Amino acid sequence: MYSQKVMDHFLNPRNKGKLKDADAVGKVGNPVCGDVMYIYIKVNDNRIVDIGWETMGCAAAIATSSMLSELAKGKTLDEGLKISRKDIADALEGLPPIKMHCSNLAAEGLHKAIENYRNRKKIMEEFSKIVGEKDAKALWHAGIASVDELRKTSIEEISNIISAEGVNRIREYFKK
Ligand code: FES
Repeated sequence: MYSQKVMDHFLNPRNKGKLKDADAVGKVGNPVCGDVMYIYIKVNDNRIVDIGWETMGCAAAIATSSMLSELAKGKTLDEGLKISRKDIADALEGLPPIKMHCSNLAAEGLHKAIENYRNRKKIMEEFSKIVGEKDAKALWHAGIASVDELRKTSIEEISNIISAEGVNRIREYFKK
């Protein structure tokens, strides 16, 4: 059911893995199946100089993440925002219609990472006020990129990311 290109990217994924020194992360969840994808970008002079990804999902989700990373590497941020799910599907020589939502996820993840990168200063200031600078950075690197997303993240998940003191401050802030 998959094209050869999809199988190739599934079996030999490109740019796979977390970028430790990422400048921004885009996290997207798939409302249909519950799978999650993280897109990491390193930016220099408004250009995506490196990209990585972690995807918990089906073969198509792995292939679209891999293809997205190839399409986005070296592009400017504005060009990256223009990469669509159709571009990814076309580059993979087509996806079964039922799998289109997976490729949607990869493009959306990149767009989110770019938006987060552009709003980084503001988001870091907001987080720092709540939990201090160190924990704010840890939240940021985990792909949490707004106070609203922080509110929606469970205390269990937050506990895996930041210090116990930070968790208490968040509890207090949201009265969770
Ligand atoms: Fe979950 Fe494709 S079925 S990402």
